[in-house]
Amino acid sequence: MRTSIIGAAVATVLAFADVGSAANATEWKSRSIYQVMIDRYARTDGSTDATCEMHEFCGGTWKGLLNNLDYIQGMGFTAIQISPIVKNIDDDTSAGAAYHGYWPVDNYALNEKFGTEQDFKDLVDELHKRDILLMVDVVVNHMAQAFDNVVPPKVDYSKFNPFNDEKYFHSYCNVTDWENATNYQDCWLYPYGIALADLATEKTEVADEMNKWVKELVANYSIDGLRIDAAKHVNDEFLPAFVEASGVFALGEVLTGKPDDMCRYQTLGLLPGMPNYLDFYKLNLAFNGGSMVNLTDIRNEGASACNDTLALGSFIENHDMPRFASLNDDLALAKNAMAYVLLNDGIPTVYQGQEQHFKGNGTPFNREPLWDSKYNKSAPLYTLTSTLNKVRNNAIKRSSDYISSPSKTLWADVNHLCLSKGPYGSQVVFCINNKSSKGDSYQVSVGGFQANDKVVEVLTCKTSTADATGNVTMYMRRGEPKAYVLASVLNGTGICNTTVEDGLEQGNGAGALGATTSMLLAAVIGSVVVLLA
Ligand SMILES: *[C@@H]1O[C@H](CO)[C@@H](O)[C@H](O)[C@H]1NC(C)=O
Ligand SMILES: *[C@@H]1O[C@H](CO)[C@@H](O)[C@H](O)[C@H]1NC(C)=O
Ligand SMILES: *[C@@H]1O[C@H](CO)[C@@H](O)[C@H](O)[C@H]1NC(C)=O
Ligand SMILES: *[C@@H]1O[C@H](CO)[C@@H](O)[C@H](O)[C@H]1NC(C)=O
Ligand SMILES: *[C@@H]1O[C@H](CO)[C@@H](O)[C@H](O)[C@H]1NC(C)=O
Ligand SMILES: *[C@@H]1O[C@H](CO)[C@@H](O)[C@H](O)[C@H]1NC(C)=O
Ligand SMILES: *[C@@H]1O[C@H](CO)[C@@H](O)[C@H](O)[C@H]1NC(C)=O
Ligand SMILES: *[C@@H]1O[C@H](CO)[C@@H](O)[C@H](O)[C@H]1NC(C)=O
Ligand SMILES: *[C@@H]1O[C@H](CO)[C@@H](O)[C@H](O)[C@H]1NC(C)=O
Ligand SMILES: *[C@@H]1O[C@H](CO)[C@@H](O)[C@H](O)[C@H]1NC(C)=O
Ligand SMILES: *[C@@H]1O[C@H](CO)[C@@H](O)[C@H](O)[C@H]1NC(C)=O
Repeated sequence: MRTSIIGAAVATVLAFADVGSAANATEWKSRSIYQVMIDRYARTDGSTDATCEMHEFCGGTWKGLLNNLDYIQGMGFTAIQISPIVKNIDDDTSAGAAYHGYWPVDNYALNEKFGTEQDFKDLVDELHKRDILLMVDVVVNHMAQAFDNVVPPKVDYSKFNPFNDEKYFHSYCNVTDWENATNYQDCWLYPYGIALADLATEKTEVADEMNKWVKELVANYSIDGLRIDAAKHVNDEFLPAFVEASGVFALGEVLTGKPDDMCRYQTLGLLPGMPNYLDFYKLNLAFNGGSMVNLTDIRNEGASACNDTLALGSFIENHDMPRFASLNDDLALAKNAMAYVLLNDGIPTVYQGQEQHFKGNGTPFNREPLWDSKYNKSAPLYTLTSTLNKVRNNAIKRSSDYISSPSKTLWADVNHLCLSKGPYGSQVVFCINNKSSKGDSYQVSVGGFQANDKVVEVLTCKTSTADATGNVTMYMRRGEPKAYVLASVLNGTGICNTTVEDGLEQGNGAGALGATTSMLLAAVIGSVVVLLA
């Protein structure tokens, strides 16, 4: 098995070099990523009434994205990740068309379905003018050809550029054993409608060509970072040399919920970062009948297994997984999940449509065209994202230690997780809960500040004053998440220009009732403070 081939000696030799002016890990850690699937983001003409057949091309383009960057910047994102850019198969297979970009045939040609080379360069220029970094998804595991489901697939290798010969590929076998690395790395993925001819990336000539290619790609198009598709399905040794050749930071896809399986990619120096699938599964579980303790546990396991959780991508949705709202469409739960993604350690990554509370389940239904939302900037998750990205960006601007300090757990129980991130003065204290919009009203005392600090809860713009122990009273209701910062750090930021004093809800007799409920709860919940009102 591959695990035994790569040893400590290899890992030391393959340590990453942070190179020159290209965006390195430190730079990426300070960013917040919006994930775009080009075919589904925006059409060149900006039309929002086009219907979309989910297995086919729907008409999104690089120019469509260029014309709609305000929507992304309005949410405070400072980077985007886009779907693969090279030429794919043209066929409409029984598994659909290559609208997603993961079925390459020519690594040296751009995908004309998404526009011209000039369109792509214009997009990159505009991104950089706006100080938005560009992460491009790259496919290194395979080249693709339509096939008729008769195995072994009859592949015409001469159609691939540059890997135009059978000798560059593994001979056909179907991945059958997801626990056996030789099997899931050397055999072919997904044998229906499309043959994903599996590149023999352990061969020097294949690896050398890939390294030359990625170096050129990054240079030709001023790419700032990579997402490496199916990184777990190529041989270990291929990855560090590829990342080094690219000269930029990379998040490699390692789809596993097991800390040791994922974190070895970091501790052995194979990849600088990975999307954080550890948190992903347990975050989902906590909002689907599980417990916040599951999330707290995996955070601790991840922190000891990985050597840099700050370089992981923090996410709850992507183009491969059922949307959060397809499991439970309660809006308060989605707000809590979004708050965790944006304020957690690591690089927040939000997949297009998450901010519109899209509900698609399995692929391709989780790839709804964003224009269905009419790009509504008043959508509740859009405004929440905007506020929390601004809060995070402000914290980073005030102190570069914000991104380099792992968050501290203030309080956790089955329903709540409260964390404090960043050094005193630029800290963000936040609490997520899984009570849903049916959640009751109660009060919880949470720390993270100093005596008498004036603080603002940024999602409601309510102020309060920390007590003599530096604790703040959270007025919990309807399952909403909470995020507190020192009031002094908001001056001039445009966040919460107007604030009101926090307290019990007033009007409709709810105040009195709320107080009674809270007092009853105070008796049964450990860390609830006695009412002051
Ligand atoms: C990473 O890039 C930043 C500029 O974006 C630079 O200030 C920093 O020194 C670089 N870090 C390393 C380790 O090269
Ligand atoms: C490939 O393997 C999967 C199990 O991973 C199995 O369900 C499928 O039938 C196999 N397909 C072929 C064409 O052998
Ligand atoms: C792992 O998979 C490879 C390739 O399919 C196979 O040759 C090998 O026997 C498998 N090993 C085990 C332990 O099953
Ligand atoms: C990069 O640009 C050069 C010069 O135009 C071209 O020869 C090369 O094929 C390009 N490489 C890639 C990967 O696009
Ligand atoms: C993690 O380990 C790898 C491999 O030893 C090393 O290159 C990298 O610098 C380490 N990262 C941190 C943050 O310690
Ligand atoms: C929240 O956690 C509790 C306790 O583990 C659990 O009973 C409840 O189902 C969870 N809520 C949701 C929406 O999953
Ligand atoms: C989630 O946590 C509960 C205890 O709170 C535990 O019983 C359960 O096994 C955990 N589930 C998973 C999948 O980790
Ligand atoms: C945009 O979202 C807001 C908040 O949900 C809603 O009130 C409004 O009707 C939406 N606008 C459009 C055009 O859908
Ligand atoms: C202060 O908050 C912490 C959680 O951060 C809690 O454990 C503690 O009980 C609170 N102290 C008081 C006096 O309520
Ligand atoms: C906010 O900043 C302005 C000047 O930029 C200053 O006059 C004012 O006192 C500040 N307010 C607070 C609450 O710090
Ligand atoms: C808050 O103030 C900023 C200027 O600091 C301004 O640009 C913004 O429009 C204001 N927002 C609201 C909602 O009033």
